[in-house]
Amino acid sequence: MFTLGAFTEIRPPAVVAGFCEPSQKLGLLGAATRTTHVNEAEAAVTATSRTPARALGLDVDGLVFGCDYNPEQWDSSVWADDVRLMQQAGINLVAINIFGWSQVEPRDGSFQFGDLDRIIALLTEAGIGINLGTGTSSPPPWLTTAHPEILPTAADETRRWPGGRQAWCPSSPVFREKAIRLVTVTAERYGSHPGVKLWHVSNELGCHNAHCYCDESAAAFRRWLRSRYGDIEALNAAWGTTFWSQHYAEWDEILPPRTTLSLANSAQQLDFDRFSSDELLSYYRAEAEAVRRFSSVPVTTNFMVTAHIKTQDYWTWADDMDVIANDHYLDHRLPVPGRELSFAADVTRGIAGGQPWLLMESSTSAVNWQPINHAKSAGQLKRDSLTHLARGADGVCFFQWRASVRGAEKFHSALLPHSGTGSRIWSEVVELGSIMGRLSEIVGTAVTSDIAFVFSWESWWATDLDAHPSSDLRYLDQVHALYAALLDVGATVDVVAPGAPLDGYRLVVVPTLYLVSDDDAAVINEFVAGGGHAVVTFFSGIVDETDGIRLGGYPGAFREMLGVTVDEFYPLGAADVLTLTDGSTSTLWSENLSLTAATSIAEYASGPLSGVPAVTRNDHGQGVGWYLATELAPDALSGLLRRIVVEASAREFVELAPGVEVVRRRGADRDYVFILNHTDQPVAHPFAGQELLSEAAVTTTGTVDAGGVHIIRQEHEKP
Ligand code: GAL
Repeated sequence: MFTLGAFTEIRPPAVVAGFCEPSQKLGLLGAATRTTHVNEAEAAVTATSRTPARALGLDVDGLVFGCDYNPEQWDSSVWADDVRLMQQAGINLVAINIFGWSQVEPRDGSFQFGDLDRIIALLTEAGIGINLGTGTSSPPPWLTTAHPEILPTAADETRRWPGGRQAWCPSSPVFREKAIRLVTVTAERYGSHPGVKLWHVSNELGCHNAHCYCDESAAAFRRWLRSRYGDIEALNAAWGTTFWSQHYAEWDEILPPRTTLSLANSAQQLDFDRFSSDELLSYYRAEAEAVRRFSSVPVTTNFMVTAHIKTQDYWTWADDMDVIANDHYLDHRLPVPGRELSFAADVTRGIAGGQPWLLMESSTSAVNWQPINHAKSAGQLKRDSLTHLARGADGVCFFQWRASVRGAEKFHSALLPHSGTGSRIWSEVVELGSIMGRLSEIVGTAVTSDIAFVFSWESWWATDLDAHPSSDLRYLDQVHALYAALLDVGATVDVVAPGAPLDGYRLVVVPTLYLVSDDDAAVINEFVAGGGHAVVTFFSGIVDETDGIRLGGYPGAFREMLGVTVDEFYPLGAADVLTLTDGSTSTLWSENLSLTAATSIAEYASGPLSGVPAVTRNDHGQGVGWYLATELAPDALSGLLRRIVVEASAREFVELAPGVEVVRRRGADRDYVFILNHTDQPVAHPFAGQELLSEAAVTTTGTVDAGGVHIIRQEHEKP
């Protein structure tokens, strides 16, 4: 059962040595997504409910059911057995050669494709599609030995050594040359192979190596800055270099934000975040271009939104992906890991512009990289996988096929565990494979929603910079809190980029949008003026793209629409709890707010701001702007969100019980209503139609078992 409000307690996970920095497929070629800084094209994220669905675009029948396969870790005598068991499980797409570099090119320029040829032939003969890795994720020892300059450098200029993975600098020309040579040779060999259904560039780009501070990266950062600002004085203005004597006379004086003695320049840090995201995107483009010279098969890479890769602004990546692919692992450092699963799935669908996407990796049970690695409970593998499908995935894949015997991931779960086919995991995998085979009719259907939820990587980076009113205010906490409250009221949201058109939505939810451009703010303000409803939370609209404060009172960019003005923040101590006049409580944050046009809904009843409005509602133009100036307790937040969702007349919300998700996928002739019961009690629902998992007709109501799932097919009424 969900714990109410548990999301509000989430803090970014600690960096886990050997895994990703704190903080997974399938969209289509040209998924419409707003691009913010790499590509200036202003394509917009489209509301899914208004976008006709297309299929993934892969030459694979039905839903994708797949896995990573690392046959190089095994004696070739097991390969035939692997393929036989894959067929038994219903696997139709297998990712290979993800970490293949040292096998395929054991010495500089000497290529050995024999094993890969054999594996590709075995899979192809078995009718299993291949998701072919370019193999460049981790450089082989001959490369790092001959060229130690490709190794990444941390902010304190200490080097990160080989022995793990992704030990390469994104700006290294030597790394890029060797990697592109490997990709070219591989693509030339397999580019038109009938078994290859998808190209998998590198692996989770930016998981470990996004920020490199070496001299090569410094030079690349300067080139990026020159192209962004053109003139050094424009950079000086944007970075506020009159402060602390930081004025730059020459481009060569500029460095990446290496470790400083005191607080560092925030605009410099923010631009380095943008540069670091763009640099890996440019690397992705180079690999994809090399592949496309020899192949017309779709190309992608696996993202990792949002718990583990913070460094990549995936809104800017979407247009380059033939298929949007995400890797997702439950993070048990979060109090209710499943909520983040749903959020990550919705973010991925948003990046895919509402089109189907692919879950490229997930785990059948425990991972191996958290402090305590929890096994999935019986039935959870099915429920988690179907939650991704409910939220728009057209395929579910896993890391990995066979659990490793050696190496850093030997305690990571797999489809085929150490104990073999007699295991619970294997029987659940086979059951899931059979379900996936029966659900092909949902392929290409689209999730419907009329609530937009703004998510911004730039605001994430900027909110979490130092020297702010409270270091306890973390962007993802606030995003998760709002999303959890919407889950509590049974609402399905479309996650959109700042500035995405809001036409057709009834409500836009804007959690802590600290950094926002004038244009992007105008989209939200005009949406409200035109009759939409918005709910904005504290520390929004504060700075422009350069992290420069908007003057005249907070929340700067949204002040007029919200009908409030704030002259000072009053962040709370970790143990402080405020009481509000409606009896609710709040934590973390408060503001000395004055009403300019809005009506107060609740005021502080305790603390230094007693009597000051904490929650406000403003009739603005034809619409309504709500402002939350404090962090409401979870039950109060869901109560308020329920009121706002109802008042906005949003249609896609069904509140059955806490811990039960209802998500609708709409097709041309029929809908599929997913009822996902994450609780330990049976739950009744009102949806009539055919239940696809049991193949039983559900007439007027149905009951989903504890931990179970119903998928109800509802035929559209004929006109
Ligand atoms: C992913 C990665 C896989 C494997 C997996 C383990 O981040 O792409 O190679 O390491 O994590 O959870």
